[in-house]
Amino acid sequence: MKFNCELKKTVDDSYDIEIGRDLSDMLIEDLKNGLVGNITRYVVVTDSNVQGLYAVPIMKKLEAAGFTADMVVIPAGERSKTREMKEYIEDAMLEKGCHRDCCIIAAGGGVVSDIAGFTAGTFARGIPFIIYSTTLLAAADASIGGKTAVDTPIATNLIGLFYQPKKVYIDINTWRTLPERELRSGLAETIKHGCIGSVQLFRFLEENIEKILLGDDYCCEYIAKMNCEVKYKVVMKDERESGLREVLNLGHTVGRAIETVSDYELLHGEAVAIGLAAQVQMGMRLGYISLKNAQRVTDLISRAGLPVAIPSYIDKKELIEKLYTDKKVRGGKLRFVFQKEIGDMMCFGENVYSKEISEAYAAEIIEKM
Ligand SMILES: NC(=O)c1ccc[n+]([C@@H]2O[C@H](COP(=O)([O-])OP(=O)(O)OC[C@H]3O[C@@H](n4cnc5c(N)ncnc54)[C@H](O)[C@@H]3O)[C@@H](O)[C@H]2O)c1
Repeated sequence: MKFNCELKKTVDDSYDIEIGRDLSDMLIEDLKNGLVGNITRYVVVTDSNVQGLYAVPIMKKLEAAGFTADMVVIPAGERSKTREMKEYIEDAMLEKGCHRDCCIIAAGGGVVSDIAGFTAGTFARGIPFIIYSTTLLAAADASIGGKTAVDTPIATNLIGLFYQPKKVYIDINTWRTLPERELRSGLAETIKHGCIGSVQLFRFLEENIEKILLGDDYCCEYIAKMNCEVKYKVVMKDERESGLREVLNLGHTVGRAIETVSDYELLHGEAVAIGLAAQVQMGMRLGYISLKNAQRVTDLISRAGLPVAIPSYIDKKELIEKLYTDKKVRGGKLRFVFQKEIGDMMCFGENVYSKEISEAYAAEIIEKM
């Protein structure tokens, strides 16, 4: 006997990304106007650095608007993006009496939005969440596209969900309080977006990188918008990474591995910067990018104050072993994505954007860096 459970679905996960300054009043207005239906209970998930700067003011505004608001704070930094910390957030929410009828507001950078989004996706089998993004890196990348995850001792982002937020607020004014090293780290993903999808963005960065680091209003708004545009164009076509979305992985094969091997001494963007430099070295030898354009990429990374070489404390043997934890690995073979000159990506067949690379070849490039 067979019973057919027909469960065809049409899902509309569309959402808006608001780019602007001091957006917390707009967030409250949106909630009053039904952004998440008739929910009146909110949990602001944040980290220890963002708590006083942006999360407490949001809490106060939620309460002043008549909503019930609680806050869960995790220690700042990548080391908090763990399954144990997700459990801590969940337990804190349960102790506060949260059920299905609440919404998470992730106030912070990519660590907060990744772990809070993952928590929202599984808490009571899924509650809505909103991102109030406070770093350039999160604005450039982590807030867009619905990937949520935690790290494991083996590698970063291994356990997670595709779970889209109800809305993203990119508050550019928050970048003013970001430590300079964090701002530079965020530029790595922005440079990546120029490399994969917009020669116009890449040229803009070449012309304005110093102004961006000084917080120039126009330049910051421009890169925020262009980051959304490049990432959205890819995610819209391939939300679940069946092919094209792999291009967003540019620089991340070596990047993610080196981030873990450094035990998070390297920030995510710093690790990605080294990964970008590694893929242009390989790409140049494979004929995918000219010497001149490869040099432009490494020059821009350096001008952003990001590393292009592997720090001496990194054990290169361990790094090569770690490359095998990459999600692009197929049949035990390493695969890399490559930029095609600047602003485009190499395509190796229908919907195939990664190429098998032998360990010996990868090791040779890594040894020279
Ligand atoms: N989901 C995705 O698609 C995606 C994409 C790219 C990166 N990521 C993830 O994003 C994370 C990196 O993001 P991140 O760089 O934002 O890290 P982060 O959240 O750790 O923030 C960086 C640091 O800046 C502090 N901070 C945040 N906002 C601040 C502000 N306005 N003023 C002062 N200090 C502030 C934080 O407390 C932290 O110490 C990594 O875990 C990475 O894996 C996810």
